[in-house]
Amino acid sequence: MNRVLGIESSCDETAAAIVEGGRVVRSDVVASQNEVHARYGGVVPELASRAHILNVVPVVQAALDRAGCTLAELDGIAVTNAPGLVGALLVGMQTAKAIAWVTGLPIVGVHHLQGHLSAIYLEPEPPPMPHLALIVSGGHTSLVRVNDHGDVVELGRTRDDAAGEAFDKGAKLLGLGYPGGVVIDRLARTGDPKAVDLPRSMLASTHGDDFSFSGLKTALLHHVRATGIPEGQVLADLCASYQAAIVEVLVRKTRRAARREGLRHVQVCGGVAANSALRAGMLAAGAEDDFRVYIPPPARCTDNAAMIAAAGYHLLVRGERAGLDLDASPSAPLPRRA
Ligand code: KG4
Ligand code: ZN
Repeated sequence: MNRVLGIESSCDETAAAIVEGGRVVRSDVVASQNEVHARYGGVVPELASRAHILNVVPVVQAALDRAGCTLAELDGIAVTNAPGLVGALLVGMQTAKAIAWVTGLPIVGVHHLQGHLSAIYLEPEPPPMPHLALIVSGGHTSLVRVNDHGDVVELGRTRDDAAGEAFDKGAKLLGLGYPGGVVIDRLARTGDPKAVDLPRSMLASTHGDDFSFSGLKTALLHHVRATGIPEGQVLADLCASYQAAIVEVLVRKTRRAARREGLRHVQVCGGVAANSALRAGMLAAGAEDDFRVYIPPPARCTDNAAMIAAAGYHLLVRGERAGLDLDASPSAPLPRRA
């Protein structure tokens, strides 16, 4: 097992990549649907499925072309089969199954979060096992102990909105468009994070490693109802304050879990790991508390197929195989042994 084709279509990115040995990226192609969904302020599932259908074959072909290889030179196929939008997942899965059927290549289904956890293994110096991982995406916010590839224990998770959802819903409320995280990140750079007092939820140790972000969203709603949607510097200050409320909770709870679990290596992954304040805050916390922080480059934090190929490689090496009856699972939790 060496050269794996990864296919990802769980949300609004159609992606294909070819990775060797779970470590070396030969090609990594992502077709974003941001323009399709921007006017709705969020992903419209049916539009996502249709865009995946249009994009998936050209994206897979581009991944093969850029890697300079043919289907006959692949050793296996990895495809995201959970969790995500079911219609979107099915497009990538049907494509993967069709390729497996005509080539006879082995195929495995990959849990999307296992993919995010594997993105860091495409970097020159990945974290050793065991380590702590903070997964922060549009759909998930979890603290996870990673004992080995596919051997993970979830320590805590969000009880309501994910961190990415908090960014996206906050941005929508402020009329900033979709996806909101990137816009808030950019505007916050010139803002004062202490300008507006917003709540930090679930910081007490009695809440364990769980998170909650829906109260913050409501606080922003009340603030905007009282003052109106600001512009210019006041908008930058509000974005910086909102972002700081999310980032501070993520950093404080992660450093507490690292200390308690006795883990000196911490990775941050998922789309929100692209956030500049979170990256800086985690690195500063690691320097203070003496743990090493690992964060993929921004393009490998957001959805991509290289991470799916990397995760799938380890499953294929372990001998795991899916049949052509592999099913999509829209809400499957991260398996303890993936
Ligand atoms: O991992 P991802 O691409 O898709 C899911 O698995 O959900 O994460 C997407 C999320 C979106 O909520 C998006 O707003 C957020 O990641 N995001 C960011 C940044 N870039 C993407 N949030 C904050 N700052 C960013 N720079
Ligand atoms: Zn994701």
